[in-house]
Parts: sequence; C-alpha cells; structure tokens
Amino acid sequence: MIDLKQRIVARIESDGPLPFDTYQAMCLYDPEEGFFSAADDVRSSYGGDFVTSPEVTPHFGAAVGRFVAEELGRTGSEGQVVEVGAGSGSLAVAMRSEIAGVSLYAVESSAAARRQLRGVLGGDCVVASLAELPSAENRITVANELVDNIPVALVVRADVGWVEQRVGWSGSEFGFVHEAPRPDVLEWVERHARSVPSGAQVEVQLGARLWLAELVSSSVNGSALIIDYGGTTEELSTRRTTGTLRTYRGHHLGPHPFAEPGKTDITVDVDFSALADEGVSLGAEVELLRQDDFLTEFGLRDVVSSLRRAELDLARSGDVMAQMRVRSERVDVETVLHPRGLGDFRVLILRW
Ligand SMILES: C[S@@+](CC[C@H](N)C(=O)[O-])C[C@H]1O[C@@H](n2cnc3c(N)ncnc32)[C@H](O)[C@@H]1O
Repeated sequence: MIDLKQRIVARIESDGPLPFDTYQAMCLYDPEEGFFSAADDVRSSYGGDFVTSPEVTPHFGAAVGRFVAEELGRTGSEGQVVEVGAGSGSLAVAMRSEIAGVSLYAVESSAAARRQLRGVLGGDCVVASLAELPSAENRITVANELVDNIPVALVVRADVGWVEQRVGWSGSEFGFVHEAPRPDVLEWVERHARSVPSGAQVEVQLGARLWLAELVSSSVNGSALIIDYGGTTEELSTRRTTGTLRTYRGHHLGPHPFAEPGKTDITVDVDFSALADEGVSLGAEVELLRQDDFLTEFGLRDVVSSLRRAELDLARSGDVMAQMRVRSERVDVETVLHPRGLGDFRVLILRW
C-alpha cells in the first residue's frame, strides 16, 4: 500500500498543485494516516500531543455545563446538547454533571476518539458527523479547540495583489507554488484581511465558515459556544506578517507542515471577527468574550476562592496530603483562567 505522502504526491501529479486546505485535510483527516485518524489514542491529552482546558481541569467543563443549563432554561424547551470534536470526552463528562437528564451527543471525526468516547459516554450518543445527529428543534452546541483545526487556504499579499499558495511537488520535496486565488478565497480575504501589509501571509478560514453554516442550518433554534485560540481581525493583523500557521507534536511546536505529512497537528489562530460576521450573516446574534471572563461569569473565580479556603482549613488541621491535593486542583483552575495563557482564548456565543 502506498503511504500518505506518496498519495499526496500522486494527487499533485494528476491534479496539479493542491490548495493548502486540501493538503491540510489529507494530513489531518486521511482515514488511514491522518494525524487525528491514525492515532491509537486521542491527541488532546497529557499522553498525547497537546493539552486542552478540559484536560487540565474538570471545573472547565462544569462551567461550560452551567452555561448550557442557563441556555436550556432561557429557551424553556427540552433541547439537545452536542459537543463537536469531543476528543477524549473530558469536556462532555464534566459538562454532563451540570445537565443531568438532558440528551448529550458527541460528534467526532476521529475513529480512535470515537472508540474512547463510546466507552465514556455510551455507544449510541457518539457519531462521526453533524448529519448523523437526530433532528432537534433546539440544539446547544459546544466546540473547544475544533475550529483551529479546520483546514485553511493560504494567500500572500504580493505587490501585484493577492496570490494563493498551493502545494507543489518538485520531484524530491513539497514547496509552495503561487497561483491566482480562487474566487471564494479572494472574496474572503478582501472581506477579512484587506488591511495587511505587502508580504503578509493570511490563512483563509473558508472551511470554518462552511462548518458554521452547516451547524446553524442543522437546527431550527440553537446556540453555539465556540472556544479556541485566536483573536479579532484587528488583533490578528499584527500576527499576519508571517502568518499563524504552525504544527504541534508531543507538546511542542513541530516541524514545517511539509516535513512529515500526517505526523503533526496543523493549526492556525482562529479569526473570530470573520466567524462572528458569518454568524450574523446566518441570522445569529453573536457575543465575543475572553475565556477568563466567560469562566468568571460561570463561577470559576468562586471555585478558586473556595479551594483557597479549603487549603487554609486543611493547613490548620495539619492534613498536608489533602492540602496538596486541593492546592493542585486550585492551580489547575487558575491555569485555565490565566490571562496570558488559556484565559486569553476567545469564546464566541451564537444564538439563532
Ligand atoms: C484539538 S482536538 C480537541 C479535543 C477536545 N475538544 C478538547 O478540547 O480536548 C480537536 C478534535 O476535533 C476533531 N475534529 C476535527 N474536525 C472535526 C469535525 N469537522 N467534526 C468532528 N470532529 C472534528 C478531531 O478529531 C480532534 O479530536
């Protein structure tokens, strides 16, 4: 059997240089060798390649669960709760404790993660795509660190205008080939990245737009909570000189995305202004917050205070082991609130 790299080369030889989003989709989601498909274990864990907020502390998922409970109360109807890109299930499990009795589904494209999720959530509530969910009038969707992995096209602002960077094959290595941008790529970049200087690289997040459109059209009434790294278009403009495309592996920045297809995560900073704009065009009301502010609103600073009090009580009683356990729990909660770390992630709430 030919491997992923050989299959990508064969595709370039038959179709010509590939748009970067096609290349990225093959690297991450190829059913046999994609980064997220091929792993025996989930990637988003301490033993995997990166650690996400729900893996750091169950208090993160509990706060998200309180948001979901509030949304269910606001709409007053039964509702269905869905987590997309649920990974190991750590968020779903923690969230479930706050929404007992509500039907909860996990949508996960990785077969390895689906296997794990079936173990923790039960078999019939784990599916591979939004299209497989039972229909719902009122759906509340949660997605943590999903959108940064949705494949992007790449463009560079040249003196002559925008050029699209496609992936070519020289006979011995992959390299960027410059071509005129596809019409939808040009439309996105003119709308969301007009003001970047000459030479800047922009990741065109058309896939995220399509995913959001699919999500909004999949239920009559709904809310979505999208959490990820990134910023507004204005905040990203300073990072766009060299672009934000990067790889992760084994908890560190990985090699160039061309070096070992399928062996590293490929990710970008999410353009939350573009995503919010798309939500508005789809008829949603939108709200953009920082993760630390969102978690504060849903009780995590209170959790820190009560853990501090418990630590003091345990110190007074001389139970050092229990005090250390509570301290470590408190430090984990502070980690997801840290203003220059996970707390700087963004939270986009959409309601339609
Ligand atoms: C970075 S991991 C985050 C996992 C989890 N949400 C967390 O916070 O720990 C992204 C996950 O999204 C999954 N994924 C990516 N695109 C998807 C899609 N379109 N539908 C469902 N799952 C997807 C990947 O397989 C991967 O497990």
